[in-house]
Amino acid sequence: MTVTLGEGGTPLLAAPRLSEQLGVELWLKWDGANPTGSFKDRGMAVAVTRALEAGATGIVCASTGNTAASAAAYAARAGLHAVVLTARGGAARGKVAQVRAAGGEIREVDGSFDDAHREARRLAAQEGFVNVNSINPDRIEGQSGAAAEVVEQLGGLPDVLALPFGGGGNTVAYAQGFTGLGFGERLPRFLLGEAARRRDTFASAIRIVEPVHRAEVDKVLERSGGSVVTLAEEQLEHAWKTLVREEGLFCEPASAAGIAAVEASRPEPGSRVVCVITGHGLKDPDAVERAMG
Ligand code: F0G
Repeated sequence: MTVTLGEGGTPLLAAPRLSEQLGVELWLKWDGANPTGSFKDRGMAVAVTRALEAGATGIVCASTGNTAASAAAYAARAGLHAVVLTARGGAARGKVAQVRAAGGEIREVDGSFDDAHREARRLAAQEGFVNVNSINPDRIEGQSGAAAEVVEQLGGLPDVLALPFGGGGNTVAYAQGFTGLGFGERLPRFLLGEAARRRDTFASAIRIVEPVHRAEVDKVLERSGGSVVTLAEEQLEHAWKTLVREEGLFCEPASAAGIAAVEASRPEPGSRVVCVITGHGLKDPDAVERAMG
């Protein structure tokens, strides 16, 4: 049985005002339009389908919130149990609500996301649950389909692909997805926005100190001539506000990291830039309260 909630096929939106301000042709891949409101759903559909095929009784993941919300929803769809591990108090309110509503089991870990990630791997090995973090290749395979969507919607490869850099799973997935679409080894230049304050950034989705895909991300950057842009809190917040106030696109703070990276590094004028906007603004109402009053 294929487990699906209708993920993927999200819009690629033109951004006329931001394009003019930044001097590039900017496109927004709006992944907040996925069933649980984040880019995690394409990969979760594949991972949960395969877990079910393999006879699993449950799935487990560590999460800053979105993987958890996605895992809980797809587990419910599949009739599986979902255990999600989060750093205590680390997941935004909307995401916790999504897990609870779908009947997922939240276990708060006294420690960081990185500690939760280690714990999730241990639990999967001990309890016979399938780990659905991005170390599971089925997650990456499913997520990689977003690259083909972008190429089809744009009618070719973008010059630059800008996205947030947390653990690096999405970067690896896009690189894998672009490869094999008929462009040989060519990749768009990857521009990755990471928080300078990885441990405690207000962009809670990317509160990850040890990116698990660091080595693969380095290879993608080398292959694509790309770079990582390290962003101050003010830069993340500015990009996040600009996106909703100039273009009407309300994402959660971490999702604007690609835009912030473009604002900070100014790609060559006229270049075709796709920014992946990874999650919906409704997931983190407290961030609005704090930053916008
Ligand atoms: N944007 C959002 C909205 C995210 O939730 C995440 C990661 C990222 C960007 C970073 O993507 O890790 O592939 O580089 N969220 C994970 C989670 C950690 O648990 O939901 P990455």
